Formats: sequence, C-alpha cells, structure tokens
Amino acid sequence: MKILVTGGLGFIGSNFIRHLRRARPTWRIINIDKRTYAGNPANLAGLDVETIKKDICDAKAVDWAMTGCDLAVHFAAETHVDRSILDAGAFLQTNVIGTQVLLDAALRRKVRRFLHVSTDEVYGSVAKGYSKEGDHLEPNSPYAASKAASDLLVRSYFVTHNAPVLITRASNNYGPYQYPEKALPLMITNFMDGVSFPQYGDGKQVRDWLHVVDHARAILLILEKGGLGEVYNIGGSYTCRNRELIERVLKLMGKGKELIVRVKDRKGHDRRYALDCSKLKRLGFKHAYDFEKGLRETISWYRDNPRWWRPLKTAGGYRSYYQTQYKGR
Ligand code: NAD
Ligand code: TYD
Repeated sequence: MKILVTGGLGFIGSNFIRHLRRARPTWRIINIDKRTYAGNPANLAGLDVETIKKDICDAKAVDWAMTGCDLAVHFAAETHVDRSILDAGAFLQTNVIGTQVLLDAALRRKVRRFLHVSTDEVYGSVAKGYSKEGDHLEPNSPYAASKAASDLLVRSYFVTHNAPVLITRASNNYGPYQYPEKALPLMITNFMDGVSFPQYGDGKQVRDWLHVVDHARAILLILEKGGLGEVYNIGGSYTCRNRELIERVLKLMGKGKELIVRVKDRKGHDRRYALDCSKLKRLGFKHAYDFEKGLRETISWYRDNPRWWRPLKTAGGYRSYYQTQYKGR
C-alpha cells in the first residue's frame, strides 16, 4: 500500500505519520509539504517517510507525488484563525486552490480513497446542541470559510466525478509537536518561562479537546472503513470554557493566576463548538486518551523538549507575528 500525506511536517500530519508507522508498518508513505513556518522536519525525525518539499498548488509536483498512490490523506493547510484575520490570502490559495489541485490529481491518478481533513469550525458557533454532519456550514473566520469552501469542493467532486472522497471534521487538537501559536502550546511554553497567557475576552468560549493521537486513530479508521462521499465528525473527550482550561494548566504546572492577562477579544470569535460524533462511534471508534492523562503528558512533553519549541519561539518570523498579534491589545 502506498499513501500520500499532505502537510506531514505539521502538527497533526506528523502525528498521523507516526501513528501510521506503528499501525501499518509495511505501507510506503510519501509526504508533500511546502515547509511553511508551521512545517518542521524535526517533527518527522527518525521516521521512514519520503518528503517532497513542494507546494500543493503546484500541479506538476502534486501529480508526480500522487503517481502510484492507493490512498491520500490531505492535511496541508494554513491553520491559524488569528493569522487569517490579519491576512486571508494564503488561506484561500492553499486551502481552496491546493485542494482543487489535489482532487484533480487524485482523479487522474485513480487514487482509491482520498480523505480530506477538515474542522468543526466550518459549522460556525453553536449556541446549544451539537453539530451533525448534515448541518449547514456557517463559517465565521476567513480560516473557517476557506475550509468550508474546500469541503464543498470535495463534495462537488464526489457528485460530479464520482471521486472516492471522505471528509472528516475534527475539534481542537492538542498534544506533542503543536506549533506554539495555538492556545495550548502557547500557554504551556509561556508559563514555563513565567510569561503570561493572553486570554481573549471573557474566556467563556467553549472548545472540545481532542488528543492528536486519537485524531490520527480516527482518521485511519475512517480512511479504511468509512463510506465514500460521507462526512465524519471527530470530537474529543473533554469540553470546557477557555478560562477553565487555562486554570487547569496553571494548576498542573504549579503556577498562579497572575499569569492570566485578559486582552481584547478576537474579532468574530466563535463562542462554542460542539460535535455530535455518533456516526464515528457507529464505525467502532473509542477514545484512547482521557483529557487528564492527555494534558499531563502534553505538558510533560513540552517540558522535556525545549529544544523543539524554543528555537521556534525565538525565530524572527514568530517574534514579529507575536508583536503584530498581541502588542497593545
Ligand atoms: P499545521 O499548521 O501544524 O501544519 C500545516 C502543514 O501544512 C505544515 O507542515 C505546512 O508546511 C503545510 N503547508 C501549508 N501550506 C502548504 C502548501 N501550500 N503546500 C504544501 N504544504 C503546505 O496544521 P495542523 O494543525 O497540523 O492541521 C492539519 C489539518 O487539520 C488542517 O487541514 C487543519 O485545517 C485541520 N484541523 C486542525 C485542527 C487543529 O486543532 N489544529 C483541528 C481540526 C482540523
Ligand atoms: P486556538 O488554539 O487558536 O484554536 P481555535 O481558534 O481554532 O479554536 O484557540 C483556542 C481558544 O483559545 C480560542 O477560543 C481562542 C483562545 N485563545 C486565547 O484566548 N488567547 C490566545 O492567545 C490564543 C492563541 C487563543
């Protein structure tokens, strides 16, 4: 079996490849990744995978990478909501055009199953109840809108071309190798340095936390057992308000609440995400991680691996982003 992974140098893609190496040791893995600020070769150190450093919008490179592949799992994307608020251009280019280029190559190269990795953010903010796969898409950030557009494109290739596609929509991931701009690795690494965490607004926004290894397990299950043309929600095992999460991390790290600083809220900030995952459960999925265990292990991982995250936080690009994002907020 030969599988193409896109975005394998990123957080979830690299964890998926690590899981695949354990779960399907004989598979040949090809990874195409442009290596943006979020793509890090250290994430795949020591793993048997062929990485092609190319843009998924490059049709020739994608066609070549896809040749002879039986399966494809598409992670590559611009992924940070705050960056999409500052500048949406790269989000539209990679997340929408890149997906179209991949779909065309998958059709041409007769890939047997193409799984598109998406997000719960496409449903928008849900005041109560739980989002089901058939619900309307009401994305509120440019990031979410670009993901919703790519989901609809994937759907259209199923209807129009009978493309063998599947879509997954996961909630907020956490775990090792997450770039320290996202909330959890940002707060853990800031707290380690005695630096405050900027809480957006009242901190009452609700997120559903999924361990990245559980996400990888669910993706592999859906890739192998899911119905073509179907969408599957992948939720976590724990839902809470941001404020509760921050206080929990502080407690586990033995730090005080003075490290929480309330800053101006994110524009268009979604108040709550919540997924109905009964369809995934019907495929036989069970979480391997409860949140307490996952969070403790994640904090330990960042504590044990400053050589992974410190160079990222001290790099010029990160510092200028941090300045733009948080200065005077
Ligand atoms: P990430 O930002 O950590 O990594 C993205 C990867 O894609 C990087 O390696 C980057 O170099 C690569 N990439 C970006 N643009 C590219 C391009 N034009 N061509 C080739 N490679 C390119 O992202 P992540 O958190 O691992 O997310 C992976 C996928 O999962 C995304 O599609 C995202 O929308 C989805 N998702 C993420 C979360 C989450 O909590 N992080 C939740 C649900 C869904
Ligand atoms: P994030 O990790 O950016 O994921 P998403 O926006 O995709 O859910 O943020 C998680 C939550 O944490 C979200 O409600 C925004 C909030 N947040 C802060 O309060 N401060 C921060 O500095 C960041 C990055 C996020």
